[in-house]
Amino acid sequence: MLKDTMLYLAKQDGIRQFVSHNPVGRRVARRFVAGEALDEAMDVSEELNGRHISASLDHLGENVSDSTEARAAAADYIKILDRIAASTADANISVKLTALGLDISPAQARTNLMRVLERARELNIFVRVDMECADYTQATLEIVAELHHDYDNVGTVVQSMLYRTPKDVEALIASKTRVRLVKGAYLEPPAIAYPRKADVDAAYRELMFALLERGTYPAIATHDERLIADARRFAAAHGIAKARLEFQMLYGIRRDLQEKLAQEGYNVRVYVPYGTQWYPYLTRRMAERPANLVFVASNAFRG
Ligand code: FDA
Repeated sequence: MLKDTMLYLAKQDGIRQFVSHNPVGRRVARRFVAGEALDEAMDVSEELNGRHISASLDHLGENVSDSTEARAAAADYIKILDRIAASTADANISVKLTALGLDISPAQARTNLMRVLERARELNIFVRVDMECADYTQATLEIVAELHHDYDNVGTVVQSMLYRTPKDVEALIASKTRVRLVKGAYLEPPAIAYPRKADVDAAYRELMFALLERGTYPAIATHDERLIADARRFAAAHGIAKARLEFQMLYGIRRDLQEKLAQEGYNVRVYVPYGTQWYPYLTRRMAERPANLVFVASNAFRG
């Protein structure tokens, strides 16, 4: 219920304006967001790399409704790619198709993504297309499938909460597309998604086993220790080498676990969001764990 409320608030513009400009909101955001500028995200990447953890940079922004802005978002990602290539950072990028114009038309998002992929391929950098709410699932998978024919440096994300995902995973396995498996951070109706967390977790486990066994360098993106332990056990039992998979977590969450896995020789990548448009991202992190609201309250009392 609280989760639903948080995700509803994410869409209210007045509240977004208020929180985004409020010093408490900004302070809370800093726990989950690397900063507002690329320099800060690069510093975080460097710090992660120092602990043998890779990064995936996300320049926050979504649901762009203006073509010029969507083109600018693509140009911006190209600058990020150049910046990564010019540094020694072990980092790739994560992009959202609604930042590249998916709300305007799938054709625009596709063209803008292609621009990003072209440069990323020249620089040998992988591009992950994040999965947004279910209104965009089909279009996202279609665009990625089409571009994957020409760009094998593109991969995407699937959400275990959606009933459709087992079928999507089979198609992605068949096309050798790299998949990041997540539970799903958006509010979806029971007609298309499991309402019960236990079912989302059980679906995650099955999809994870399929990807570990037959997928192309799957990314197991979760902070759920039981699922991580299951992945490790499954990989060991099936002779799947550590180098054939990656664990992924979010910046600011379970740093201890990130470090432990990296120290044990697993590939670990942390998703590093940055930018001024952090409000929707922050509300999703709050919705996942209402206990985070205690963190908000303690910051509020600090004035
Ligand atoms: P679960 O919610 O069961 O949490 C397990 C444990 O993790 C909790 O008990 C707690 O300890 C910790 N935890 C989880 N969330 C926390 C939080 N917000 N604050 C503090 N602790 C927390 N989703 C999506 O729809 N599309 C996408 O493209 C992506 N991309 C993505 C990339 C990466 C690298 C990750 C790790 C996650 C995503 N997600 C996502 C988000 C994902 O769908 C999911 O909402 C979160 O990962 C939380 O679910 P867990 O799997 O961690 O499990």
